[in-house]
Amino acid sequence: MTRRDLLKMAIAMSAATIPGSWDELAAETSAHSPTSPALPGTLRDIASARGLHFGAAVPWEELADNPLYAQIIHQQCGILTPELELKWDCLRPTPQSFDFRKADRLYVFANSHGMLFRGHTLVWERALPKWFESTVDARNAESVMMSHISTVVSHFAGKICSWDVVNEPIQLGDGRADGLKVTPWLRFLGPEYIAMAFHAAHAADPNAMLVFNEDWLEPENAAAQRKRQAVLALLTQLKRSGVPVHALGVQSHLSAELQTAGPHFQRFLQEIEDLGLMIIITEMDVSDQHLPADIEERDRLVATQYLDYLSFMLQFKSLKSIMTWGLTDRFTWLAKVHPRPDGLPVRPLPYDAELNPKPAWEAIRQAMETAPRRATTT
Ligand code: G3I
Repeated sequence: MTRRDLLKMAIAMSAATIPGSWDELAAETSAHSPTSPALPGTLRDIASARGLHFGAAVPWEELADNPLYAQIIHQQCGILTPELELKWDCLRPTPQSFDFRKADRLYVFANSHGMLFRGHTLVWERALPKWFESTVDARNAESVMMSHISTVVSHFAGKICSWDVVNEPIQLGDGRADGLKVTPWLRFLGPEYIAMAFHAAHAADPNAMLVFNEDWLEPENAAAQRKRQAVLALLTQLKRSGVPVHALGVQSHLSAELQTAGPHFQRFLQEIEDLGLMIIITEMDVSDQHLPADIEERDRLVATQYLDYLSFMLQFKSLKSIMTWGLTDRFTWLAKVHPRPDGLPVRPLPYDAELNPKPAWEAIRQAMETAPRRATTT
């Protein structure tokens, strides 16, 4: 039986059976999926040699159905984020119940390959289960949110290195002076829902790094600058109030032609570090939606953005984790949400749809290899 057959069987078995405990699940997975040390020259090794973590967000199905992809993930990534399985619509079949099975399988996959595991996300207004709207209101929202956070964070206590506690809470277009997005959480609980969420997560796992995760902070334009100012004001107030927020998650969903890495973004990130917060790149990809059709030119422009942006970001010594949102063009969310007008498959990630490394892979390698070394990563 070949390694690939073994891996396929291991993943199929762990997907098919529903062991009752961590140990059973770990035995199931590690017994069959050979732990292959990361090969020299992988993004995982290069990151580690510089005191960094490189990783990706993937959903369980993509690993369970594609053993070769699973192998590339654990060889190239030292950290893994569930793309779906820690969101409410996956975890919460009913108002009273939790289903951790898929998230647990991803944890066991990561742990059996010596990978760190990061949680995404505890409080967001999207990816909510169908029962949410008809069940949650101003009277019960606090207990619903707090019991969700304490149950989920406690389940993974000691197993998750960092949590995206609140995801994308800023939306200036909603017209509030503080820039907060008008979500059900804000409507039912007021702005304090953010501090409450961080305190609840910290109480359930004091060792987890707690992250405020936001998108569209990177562009060098006026709208992004207004968003950065709202984020900075909010994080300053949270820190002053003793809220246990430890890092800013900069999602980094870029496009190849986007002007970023400018002086305003640089000053913002410096002010974030001056607050005592770390910086994490949580969801990087580089859209080629508006680039010419030629694949070689697209790949080159996408790779250039990866190299320029990561070289800029890695000047900040608090940045220790770089996550892409997926690792292969085959499964990118951008294919569905931001497809190319000409209908050609998009190419935003380090591996193409056939799982071959692309110029973007080399660009990420080069940016990390030339980055100032970090103190050993915890
Ligand atoms: O798997 C089901 C499938 O069985 C069903 O037929 C289909 C149609 O209903 O839905 C499929 O699930 C979808 C899932 O992606 C897998 O494709 C969900 O409906 C869909 O909501 C989900 O979208 C995800 C989205 O977050 C909401 O959770 C995207 O894949 C994921 O890439 C996206 O990731 C977000 C981050 O969490 C936050 N930052 C932005 C980022 C991109 O939007």
